[in-house]
Amino acid sequence: MSSSHEVDSASSLPTGLRLWPSKRYAEMHRRSLEDPERFWSEEARKLDWYKTWDRVLDWTPPYARWFVGGKLNACYQCVDRHVKTWRRSKVAIYWEGETGETRVLSYSTLFREVNRCASVLQKLGVKKGDRIALYLPMIPELPLFMLACARIGAVHTVIFSGFSAQAMCDRIFDTQAKVIITADGGYRRGKIVALKDIADEAARLCPSVEKIIVVKRTGEPVPMTKGRDLWLSSLLDEAEMLVKPEPMESTHPLYILYTSGTTGKPKGVVHSTGGYLVFNNSAYEWVFDIREESVYWCTADVGWVTGHSSIVYAPLSHGAAIVLYEGAPDYPTVDRWWDIVEKYGVSIFYTSPTAVRMFMRYGEEWPLKHDLSSLELLGSVGEPINPEVWQWYYKYIGGERCPIVDTWWQTETGGIMISPTPGIEPIPLKPGSATLPLPGVDAVVVDAEGNEIPPGQTGFLIIRKPWPGLLMDIYGDPQRYQESYWSRFPGSYYTGDFAMRDEDGYFWLLGRADEVLKVAGHRIGTAELEDATISHPAVAEAAVAGKPDPVKGEAIVLFVTLKKGTSPSPDLRKEIAQHLRRVIGPIAAPDAVYFVDSLPKTRSGKIMRRLLKAVVSGQSLGDLTTLEDETSVDEVKKAYESLRKISESAKDN
Ligand code: PRX
Repeated sequence: MSSSHEVDSASSLPTGLRLWPSKRYAEMHRRSLEDPERFWSEEARKLDWYKTWDRVLDWTPPYARWFVGGKLNACYQCVDRHVKTWRRSKVAIYWEGETGETRVLSYSTLFREVNRCASVLQKLGVKKGDRIALYLPMIPELPLFMLACARIGAVHTVIFSGFSAQAMCDRIFDTQAKVIITADGGYRRGKIVALKDIADEAARLCPSVEKIIVVKRTGEPVPMTKGRDLWLSSLLDEAEMLVKPEPMESTHPLYILYTSGTTGKPKGVVHSTGGYLVFNNSAYEWVFDIREESVYWCTADVGWVTGHSSIVYAPLSHGAAIVLYEGAPDYPTVDRWWDIVEKYGVSIFYTSPTAVRMFMRYGEEWPLKHDLSSLELLGSVGEPINPEVWQWYYKYIGGERCPIVDTWWQTETGGIMISPTPGIEPIPLKPGSATLPLPGVDAVVVDAEGNEIPPGQTGFLIIRKPWPGLLMDIYGDPQRYQESYWSRFPGSYYTGDFAMRDEDGYFWLLGRADEVLKVAGHRIGTAELEDATISHPAVAEAAVAGKPDPVKGEAIVLFVTLKKGTSPSPDLRKEIAQHLRRVIGPIAAPDAVYFVDSLPKTRSGKIMRRLLKAVVSGQSLGDLTTLEDETSVDEVKKAYESLRKISESAKDN
């Protein structure tokens, strides 16, 4: 691991320090953009293929198809090829339950278990192309079943275990999944989350579901519907020991993962097999500088893209040893994570700014109690990391020894796009900047017309060339795929993010440019929250604004108008908050609910979102008036003042 990284902070920049990156990175990045097909075909050769591709890239905008004609299997890639080497006895997964129990799976155990799980699916009649929903806590069965699906060519759709029955049902309905794999429960902060009950409720609403496989985790009694529900343990008794991996077309979907966009309906992001694996395999090596002896821990939930790429597919394709932890970060004591780092000798630690901010609040005495000297590299993902938080992370977790890779990417990009790449060569780091695009990533910052803008100015982040991790489509909605990513700046992929590039070419990611919030790193659309709010019988209209939050990055604030005859009350406020948790899940819990007589709208009826944002952020109106079309300065000011009063008085209550 490199120890020669330099940290730059604007104030302490040593005079004369050349910030332009290493020659090696610059040369590789240049080569990758000059001849992407050649570059990516060299990278693709690092994987095992049943059949090599006929064409590296078929680019028919907006669709990119990578390694066309090639065949491979993601499970083979992550498991079988390792058991043919000494890695068969290497640890694949160190699992730690919230309640303290542990399981250690070697690559040969992983191989055996994956085969048996694949056999279970096959015996239930699951075939290539079928969609399978996974609704599981962070237990080994989650990666096991993802890999088992991949082994037989079934397409998994993992549903974050914090989602409600309704959110789960929406996803199952969209994919027409015929099997759900869930558990009798999961542990969270000492309590049991009744996953099976939620799965039952979702299944009641989704006629596509034929079977529910239930993993025993808590031992709590759960109702089992005869003919539909099956215990995994009984199915495993009958399972075969070996299931041949299915040679899959490179362009066959590996999985569908739902994420939030600007409408109420989540988008089913479809990722390919070949391109996705090639991109992640390379990105992982460049960013994390993975070594055979590394112990790698990504603290994300497998239910998000970070979990898919950075817990399962990328590390396992490298034969890495990973840590998988089931529970809450600060349970039963706030040093639980540091205890785990010490216990397993974690060398690469990858987490979110929200988590670091939370630990910063608890104080450095907690990490200081532990020997964290095994750590060599730290990572951050999901939201911008503020420089002071970066510095705390660097000092108290990394012991001022470990570089931090601030990795910018999205569910849609499949893998890391902008990040330092110590696996290529260390570059000077700047706290708060994700630094430079990975090889093959043609990222630029543009103005509203799509013209590249000078350093130091804020604009929209776009990617000008396709890369192998690019999503294949939005499941069942090609029009939305085209509109969301390719219409705003024709020919380029629109990320939906604001960014700034500095004089050294470093990227600073500045948050979403669309109606998507990042709450504790979770991506959630304002439209989704608004739809869920108005499904409450007392609510007439709703508008959501993201309020800056010192820990979560952003918090949800709801503005609500009530139906005639309904009076505002503290109980109703609580009830609406509860309703959101019920409809979407705990990640949708609002921080504040404000009752208003009317929502501020332009004359054409659009909600003045910037005004709401200004109110909740405590910003002055500034030149906001110019931003709201067709509306007089006076009207905007009046609306602002009245909302500000309401939010101020709510604070006093
Ligand atoms: O706004 C960016 C933010 O997270 C969004 C993508 O969210 P999601 O699809 O849930 O994937 C998150 C994990 C890969 C982006 O559009 N984001 C992600 N990473 C960073 C970030 N913002 C700033 N810095 C980052 N490192």
